[in-house]
Amino acid sequence: MNVLAIESSCDETAAAVVVDGRTALSSVVASQVDLHARYGGVVPEVASRQHLRNIGPVVREALETAGITLDQVDAVAGTRGPGLAGSLLVGYNTAKAIAFGRGLPFLGVNHLEGHIYANWLVEGPEPKFPALCLVVSGGHTDLVLMRGHGQYERLGGTRDDAAGEAFDKVGRLLGLPFPGGPHVAKAAEEGGPSELSLPRAWIPGTFDFSFSGLKTAVLHIVRAGKYDTPTVAWEFQEAVVDVLAGKTSRLARELGAAEVLVAGGVASNTRLREELHRRCPVPVRIPPPKFCTDNAAMIGAAAGYRLALGERSPLTEDIFTTNDWARVQSSVVSS
Ligand code: KG4
Ligand code: ZN
Repeated sequence: MNVLAIESSCDETAAAVVVDGRTALSSVVASQVDLHARYGGVVPEVASRQHLRNIGPVVREALETAGITLDQVDAVAGTRGPGLAGSLLVGYNTAKAIAFGRGLPFLGVNHLEGHIYANWLVEGPEPKFPALCLVVSGGHTDLVLMRGHGQYERLGGTRDDAAGEAFDKVGRLLGLPFPGGPHVAKAAEEGGPSELSLPRAWIPGTFDFSFSGLKTAVLHIVRAGKYDTPTVAWEFQEAVVDVLAGKTSRLARELGAAEVLVAGGVASNTRLREELHRRCPVPVRIPPPKFCTDNAAMIGAAAGYRLALGERSPLTEDIFTTNDWARVQSSVVSS
């Protein structure tokens, strides 16, 4: 089954063609990073207007690269949420309109479920259940147990900043370009262990995270005026990675998970990848970086599995903007 998938939840306009939830024939991403960089963050109205400009050409390119026409598309999927409302509406309504115009099945996909399904786009055997999923993006940090396709139980998450958000804010404090994540990681390559001791919020007895104290600690160092950017970047990255890899590996052991699946933009962080592989007691899967950050192939992968189960979304379905794993289940109706 060829699924045409569209993603526009934040600042990337993306479209892809995915076969049977596993093979991406194309994955086109038009990034708006340069447009938002001068503001130091994503400006919602600027983002939705840019999506309007990009969406047509991006969908056309996804079909052309896949070497198919709309006649060969079997179903259409769009990101339903969470994300910026104005951004979501562009991609979601485009997906609906194509489905309506062509009389094709339509499916709305949860963005975070999509991130997890990026792990199905990698060649080789499919991930095994029960899988412990670590979702680390610019907007979310969640530990979710996946017992089967579409079955999620959130066991922990951030109480304040998301991991990617913490990277981005620290990047800004250090005067690095937006988005901070990759730039902090790059600066950290020149750094190493130092006298600095940055806090790690272990929050005993829970699998929750907190990164705001760590961010404030960096703020104090920067305000004090005398610091070395690579050293601060290194110490910050180590603190984030230590807690993420520490809690994930412990929970995987306690649950007896078959595998650990990592997802979201921060999953492209090399140190996080290394530490998860080193510490987890079970196999760890991490998609290649192009499928870690926002893309539409991951949406097509999640949709492929749900469509195969007979699930469809009505064309009257609204978007949603909050992080609600219970809604992943209720976002679809069975045909
Ligand atoms: O998943 P994503 O593309 O968008 C959201 O759904 O939020 O994640 C973007 C986030 C940003 O915060 C970005 O700084 C972070 O992922 N990121 C990284 C790296 N690459 C992207 N953070 C740390 N190290 C990286 N190499
Ligand atoms: Zn994302």
